[in-house]
Amino acid sequence: MEDQLRSIETEALEAVEKAQDKEAIEGVKVRFLGRKGVLTSILKGLGKLPREERPRIGKLANEVKVQIERAIKARLKILEKTAGPRLIKGFDPTLPGRSLPLGHSHPITQILDEVCSVFERLGFSAAQGPEIELDFYNFEALNIPPDHPARDMQDTFYVDDKVLLRTHTSPIQVRTMELMKPPIRIIAPGKVYRCDSDITHTPMFHQVEGLMVDEHVSFAHLKGILTHFAQEIFHKDTKVRFRPSFFPFTEPSAEIDIQCVICKGDGCRVCSQTGWLEVLGAGLVHPQVFRHVGIDPEKYSGFAFGLGIERIAMLKYGINDIRLFYDNDMRFLDQF
Ligand code: DAH
Repeated sequence: MEDQLRSIETEALEAVEKAQDKEAIEGVKVRFLGRKGVLTSILKGLGKLPREERPRIGKLANEVKVQIERAIKARLKILEKTAGPRLIKGFDPTLPGRSLPLGHSHPITQILDEVCSVFERLGFSAAQGPEIELDFYNFEALNIPPDHPARDMQDTFYVDDKVLLRTHTSPIQVRTMELMKPPIRIIAPGKVYRCDSDITHTPMFHQVEGLMVDEHVSFAHLKGILTHFAQEIFHKDTKVRFRPSFFPFTEPSAEIDIQCVICKGDGCRVCSQTGWLEVLGAGLVHPQVFRHVGIDPEKYSGFAFGLGIERIAMLKYGINDIRLFYDNDMRFLDQF
């Protein structure tokens, strides 16, 4: 009997050691300690033993039982802690995962958002207008009458005599002023279209228009806000230059240059040796534009500006061919 108990103990402890998961341990438990288990039947049969042997064998059987229970507990602990996760069949969760391709917004969208957020922080709110626009909003209301030579500045896609693809975001100025009365502070991002294509032009590109109208708005406000804008987008020490220019819908008009981001003003190929790069058109809203929308030019004044997003992106990232933005080559786009 004693030998039998010893061999049960050895067998059980070996089985526990070999068990690789909870189910296997459960099996060992049932086999040895269960109601019909090997050890249990010995304990049940104790009564049939000669009286003098009972205490010794009973004690031994209990010791074996305790040993097995202890071993089971210890083995379970180990399985849970270390080998636990490896036990899931045919699957090793400790291997590195397969990463999912993570998308991101297009570089042009990124710059568009960045530009808008600079102005939103200054209290400008976003406005919109249609991409298929009436000649009236795109040209006439902006003081560009039918035979005005300024229409030659832009190569327009016409839908018919009166309808076209907007060539700039400036018509949103007019649409906004028709709907809102001063004070007005808006920023209007959007797609614009011109029949033009080379390394610095695509038939579709993006502009952001700005407009602020109130009493006593002056050129000084325009200068302050656009200088702040250039320094936020490029570098806080960026030098800005306001150069007199002409737009039919602003008077006076200016083009705004920043110091060349490549040569820092020394002169290079990118800035045609001038040290400056043009980034914006702007000016004070022409009284004629105010009259078209019923705002009194004697009482109110305003400034407007327009900028090309692709150009800003090219300067900011040092890209020399605008078409890269629209070739959809992920090797290019993934860099942003
Ligand atoms: N709309 C002009 C263009 O596309 C840019 C522009 C110039 C917008 C001056 C303005 C402005 O609002 O005041 O070339």
